[in-house]
Amino acid sequence: TKLAGVMGWPVEHSRSPMMHNYWCKVHGVNGAYVPLSTKPELFEPALRGLGAAGFRGVNVTIPHKEAAMRACDQLTDTAKRAGAVNTIVFENGQIIGDCTDGTGFCDNLTAHGVQISGRALVLGAGGAARAVVAALLDRGCEVIIANRTMERAEAMISALGEGEAVEWFDWPSLLPGCSLLVNATSLGMHGRQDMDWDAALIQSGPNLCVTDIVYTPRETPLLLAARRRGLITVDGLGMLIHQARAGFRAWFGYDPQADDATFELLADSL
Ligand code: ATR
Repeated sequence: TKLAGVMGWPVEHSRSPMMHNYWCKVHGVNGAYVPLSTKPELFEPALRGLGAAGFRGVNVTIPHKEAAMRACDQLTDTAKRAGAVNTIVFENGQIIGDCTDGTGFCDNLTAHGVQISGRALVLGAGGAARAVVAALLDRGCEVIIANRTMERAEAMISALGEGEAVEWFDWPSLLPGCSLLVNATSLGMHGRQDMDWDAALIQSGPNLCVTDIVYTPRETPLLLAARRRGLITVDGLGMLIHQARAGFRAWFGYDPQADDATFELLADSL
């Protein structure tokens, strides 16, 4: 049996086991993907132990994504740019870390027919934002970052060597000329305080694509406001699916598809 799993703390909410086990069934793989509830202080020994025990690899989720960077023996360039690791492969006694969040984000947009080019406005400068910003820069976008705490946006820009930071309250006025608006803040998540997105979107052009990396709820208040204005919207569930594909390929040997059945499976679990 080929083994993989997801290390998180807590990890019970993770939809990854459901998705990977479904793909194992679809491809007839003799595999199992399990939730691995891992205390932060035990992350590194747990990771090494999984490699020693014959696991093919693991996904890493909150709060371990930065610790995973330090624990890996090798990092891909993408993981270095993202400043985080979410996908690990054990290979010849080595722990190799990659970050597939940025590619998953972009692949999801592409799958929805959205062209990744021009000027992108990214809201947020936390851990989740950096992989997205790096991927957009690497695909030739001009990226503007608006974050409530300006210093975090500036720190990200200096780490990535590219991009522009703007004051949080200025972002709505920058929408004219943008082709993409990404919410990478926690605003819009179930139970979080929110903002007046309708008012904020008033200045957007008609061809703006609006996307959110939050997927609980699937249609966030931002996406609802954008849809009502007739803008193109892409929700965050597809990013979750697309970021998982590279790991499945590496551990189980098949390229799984982000098809309707996978979307339905996950949507039913939200
Ligand atoms: P993650 O690693 O998941 O991105 P995080 O590092 O806590 O989590 O970042 C959350 C993001 O949401 C940050 O960009 C945060 O802004 P700050 O850097 O100023 O904290 C943003 N955020 C959270 N609550 C917010 C709010 N009420 N208004 C605006 N931005 C908010």
